[in-house]
Amino acid sequence: MCGIVGYIGNKDAYPILINGLKRLEYRGYDSAGIALIDNNKAQVYKKQGKVSELEKETATKKITGNIGIGHTRWATHGLPNDINAHPHMSMNGKFIVIHNGIIENYARLQKKLCDRGYSFTSETDTEILANTIEYIYLKGKVSAELAVRLALTKIIGAYGLVVICIDEPNQLIAARNGSPLVIGVGEKEYFIASDATPIIEHTNRIIYLNDKEIAVVTKNELSLKTITNDALIPMIQELNLDIEEIEKGGYDHFMLKEIYEQPKSINDTFRGRASQNPPEIYLGGLYNVFDKLDEAERIIIVACGTSWHAGLVGEYLIEEFARIPVEVEYASEFRYRNPIISKNDVIIAVSQSGETADTIAAVKMARELGATVIGICNVVGSSLTRETEAGVYTHAGPEIGVASTKAFSAQVTVLTMISLLLGKRRKKLSEKTYTTLIKELYKIPDKITQLLSQNETYKHVASLYKDATNCIYLGRGVLFPVALEGALKLKEISYIHAEGYPAAEMKHGPIALIDENMPVVIIATKDHSYEKVVSNIQEVKARKGIIIAVVNEGDTTIAKLADHVLEVPETLPELAPLTTIIPLQLFSYYIAVMRGCNVDQPRNLAKSVTVE
Ligand code: F6R
Repeated sequence: MCGIVGYIGNKDAYPILINGLKRLEYRGYDSAGIALIDNNKAQVYKKQGKVSELEKETATKKITGNIGIGHTRWATHGLPNDINAHPHMSMNGKFIVIHNGIIENYARLQKKLCDRGYSFTSETDTEILANTIEYIYLKGKVSAELAVRLALTKIIGAYGLVVICIDEPNQLIAARNGSPLVIGVGEKEYFIASDATPIIEHTNRIIYLNDKEIAVVTKNELSLKTITNDALIPMIQELNLDIEEIEKGGYDHFMLKEIYEQPKSINDTFRGRASQNPPEIYLGGLYNVFDKLDEAERIIIVACGTSWHAGLVGEYLIEEFARIPVEVEYASEFRYRNPIISKNDVIIAVSQSGETADTIAAVKMARELGATVIGICNVVGSSLTRETEAGVYTHAGPEIGVASTKAFSAQVTVLTMISLLLGKRRKKLSEKTYTTLIKELYKIPDKITQLLSQNETYKHVASLYKDATNCIYLGRGVLFPVALEGALKLKEISYIHAEGYPAAEMKHGPIALIDENMPVVIIATKDHSYEKVVSNIQEVKARKGIIIAVVNEGDTTIAKLADHVLEVPETLPELAPLTTIIPLQLFSYYIAVMRGCNVDQPRNLAKSVTVE
């Protein structure tokens, strides 16, 4: 949430900042702004709306300088307008600040500043921070770095920030607590950003800042310390990320590209970890916690949104194959409800970004309570990967579309592998079932490729329901989370109200909503509850509801009942989430496109929810 970018070096900073902001726009698109320093003078431009609006605003201006910062905002404090856009300047013009996070004690700091004669132009907590730094700087006659460090000791809350001091214009000061920040190391130049995507086209040498660390960067050197002034040695890591992976590559939207990448991303996720010959699962990232997993009395999966849906699939599979009790918790609820955790519990945190504030807080709490914490994460080097003692990366590649697609299927793939491995280690899964499942997992990418070639069907059905105002999604067992995920995809990108239910729950209330205008998407592939799902379809039809059924190829029973069928190739029931989600993703995508919605950047949303 909110994207931050900074540059210092010998190049023209403006294009680097604008391109960087475009790469980071998925983190927020309420407003964008930049500040460049040239000849000790600041040029600050900010504009409500997307980065393209800022570009239009600055097109005719002569903006110069080799040092600058930029910000794309997801509004927390104050409306998304020009005034509240970052960068924010302190009252006497000494400091310019961009910030991602929330200053929780801003009201108290604001009051103190008011008592000292400060006034404010915006409604943001960031402006309070800029002025707190300035007050300390002017009053204490200290260096800019010390003023920032002292100000940060007074802050309660989360921040990733970059600060320019106009009196010390040849440096950028960057600090982090809770909101991510990375530094790219070039030749006599440094890049700062919320994640590596704006940096990777310039350098793959990356330093990840940890919480409560501060970096002071000139074009020639970087010094790293804690905010309490202990010197640190920067650890430069080489990041393996191709620029093509973060571009649209000819697709109309990132979301479509990412849906189409799923045969590859699933394959990348199990490659080297699931072998057919001999049939085996190897999850090297879990080696140091195998004893804990073998003895665990309970597994708790914590996550948010789509990752929580993947967690629900994991619950079903781990209980089925390994017979370990599993609970799936919304990270936001878990962390605030004094959960009962013991050291015999294993917590699995699932997150695409690895930066979701609630998930990270849940992880920290579980560790403090003595549990073993494992991460399933897509972003290399993210906070989650550093807060957990073991983990498995989903190798889905960068996910830029705000609506999660390939991350979900990669998370389900990892959870499937974990459930198989635990089932085998606990001797709850026969060799035959273990082998059959691994062999079938290998076939999933081809089955998805086949599904993707049926996109004209999804487009056609989408065209019939693009004007719907509501939609119900139903599924049973391991397909219930797929119903939830299908509903989430539709509502978040097309703004059609959609709800997912376990199919049998419909009778306990939601059936009252069914009439001839209500599309009901039902996932009805063959498993042990197939007959029951057929009955659920009958119940909807008896009330004149419209049935869009996701079925196995050649299913004539449901074809006779449903208004539309979306066929998927047969697979083992436990692996069906990986195939049945594809038509639902594309159905939502085409509806959103036909409704003229901004598919990659849905309103009010941002990827990577780094605030609570
Ligand atoms: C929905 C979506 C969100 C995320 C959620 C968790 O399409 O993208 O619901 O799944 O914000 O994000 P991560 O997985 O990054 O923790």
